[in-house]
Amino acid sequence: MLPTTLSSPHSTNVTPTPSVSPLSPFSPSSSSSFLSLPPSSSTLRRRRCLNSLCVFGDTHLRISPKPKGLKVECLVSEPLKVMISGAPASGKGTQCELIVQKFGLVHISTGDLLRAEVSSGTEIGNKAKEFMNAGRLVPDEIVTAMVTARLSREDAVERGWLLDGYPRSFAQAQSLEKLKIRPDIYIVLDVPDEILINRCIGRRLDPVTRKIYHIKNFPPETEEIKARLVIRPDDTEEKVKSRLEIYKQNSEAISATYLKIMTKIDGNRPKEEIFKEIESFLLQVQKDTEKMEKSGNTLLESKSHKIQASASEDNWRGIPTKLNNIPHSSEIREYFYKDVLEATQRAINDGRTRLKVENNIPELNPEMDVYRIGTLMELVRVLALSFADDGKQVKVCVQGSMGEGALAGMPLQLAGTRKILEYMDWGDYGALGTFIKIGSVGAKEVDEQDDMFIIVAPQNAVGNCIIDDLKAMTDAAGDRPVILINPRLKDLPGSSGIMQTMGRDKRLEYAGSFQNCYFFRLLYYAGTQYPIMGALRMSYPYRCELYKRIDEPSGKEKYVILSTFTERPTIDEINDAFQGKPRNEAKNTSGIWGFLSGIF
Ligand code: AP5
Repeated sequence: MLPTTLSSPHSTNVTPTPSVSPLSPFSPSSSSSFLSLPPSSSTLRRRRCLNSLCVFGDTHLRISPKPKGLKVECLVSEPLKVMISGAPASGKGTQCELIVQKFGLVHISTGDLLRAEVSSGTEIGNKAKEFMNAGRLVPDEIVTAMVTARLSREDAVERGWLLDGYPRSFAQAQSLEKLKIRPDIYIVLDVPDEILINRCIGRRLDPVTRKIYHIKNFPPETEEIKARLVIRPDDTEEKVKSRLEIYKQNSEAISATYLKIMTKIDGNRPKEEIFKEIESFLLQVQKDTEKMEKSGNTLLESKSHKIQASASEDNWRGIPTKLNNIPHSSEIREYFYKDVLEATQRAINDGRTRLKVENNIPELNPEMDVYRIGTLMELVRVLALSFADDGKQVKVCVQGSMGEGALAGMPLQLAGTRKILEYMDWGDYGALGTFIKIGSVGAKEVDEQDDMFIIVAPQNAVGNCIIDDLKAMTDAAGDRPVILINPRLKDLPGSSGIMQTMGRDKRLEYAGSFQNCYFFRLLYYAGTQYPIMGALRMSYPYRCELYKRIDEPSGKEKYVILSTFTERPTIDEINDAFQGKPRNEAKNTSGIWGFLSGIF
């Protein structure tokens, strides 16, 4: 039996009770400490935490300052519900052992349940045996009844569950949907075929501890264990190939059911590394569920988990459609202002200080025909006002003219920007000049009272490099946040063909020292800008999400998530995801995707 002694302290729903009593504030450490609590009972337990109230105003999407000192009692989140899927021998069982050890979920493996029935010689076992030994799927009605009965048992309801090997067909997925049984996250382990076959052939099972070994990868610890290991009857090369084929036939239909909460993980790595990634996901899901419940689903806090990991994504608005219509509608612009703001707030709250936002919607992409400086300015205003509302002194900076003599000038994109900023409506509360100041780029712009800096589209120009000024400024800013909005810091040749003072490597290293807190880019077939094929979106601290755009029969369009990545994917990885190939397969050299600009 797998260890199931740890559990999360989740409870069932009760209505949150607001209170202004002097409770101890919620802290991140308290959120992780619950993992070591003893198994939960049916008693409702509540945690105490700070409630942050966040309201977007009508005009500038302001976020109201957090009421300092207001503390509200709130709930423990629902227990985790996890599904893990992948081809035969992709490592599901191996990862489940580790997940159970850490999260105390109830592991429900249909393969293990069926093998137990077979070895006990039950009626179900006798029916299942012939299918299993042939490497075929056991009929749905047998497996579904078994799984739903197991899921409804008290331990699974209280402690949460980890479903392994189910659903394995579209019909099975639909059975769960009908019963409204849905996971928080659907993990798919991605492993190349040739590795899978090798793993199956070398697999050995310990009938006493149920531990999974591999003759080469994970040999048994002692001779005694080695002597009692058994080989599964369906682990021959021929049967593995048949199982793999069946998996491939079904996987797409199942993924479609869980697309919004699916996360593909590269399973061809050391098991500890894979687990680390899974663990960070599950912790994030827990954290976000807790946040949602404690805040009563405020706009700012409700979205993060839902973006990646919730089937009931009522608040998550997905990617807006009609992105090729330029100028963009005000709804589209506001969507992106909010999206960028929330990501930036999370990064700043986590103590990040060197940040960059890259929002390449068509209207903000200087390589498109219609580039709207007003959209960039509005985005900057939303950010600046929200931080000012939090009591921060924000300096909004636009680089000035660079170069000398006939070569003096500034990038076309930024021409007149400073004037526009000065004339903009900064609200009725006199924020401009008090909490918000407008400045340029350079060390001398950094004043003692400034809390943070937003730099509008800093960019190199032919013959002139902004990086020296920018570096001097960030050095002077020290540990105060500096946020670059749509920077373009790639090397450009000087008028003489030689770039500026520092070496290229140093410039690139400096440009790379800013962490993306937000990234959005549309994807097109190479060399075209129509139709939109998909989008890449990254919102701190979550993974980079790859979306596919779909034209529905009704004529509407929508974006569905295809895959997620820890880092921005390469063109090959994007190609593979669109073509439904598992990762690590031979790369396709003729990329079908191109991007709106070369700076990918
Ligand atoms: P089931 O037991 O679920 O088999 P499976 O899905 O084919 O998966 P496996 O158990 O073979 O592999 P795994 O992904 O758990 O990998 P493991 O961790 O063991 O189902 C068996 C049968 O039951 C099915 O064929 C079907 O007949 C029936 N059945 C089950 N569910 C059903 C359903 N819902 N409907 C109908 N029929 C159903 O790892 C494999 C090996 O690789 C091990 O030796 C391990 O040590 C090694 N390994 C693991 N991770 C790594 C790593 N990172 N690096 C190197 N080696 C690794």
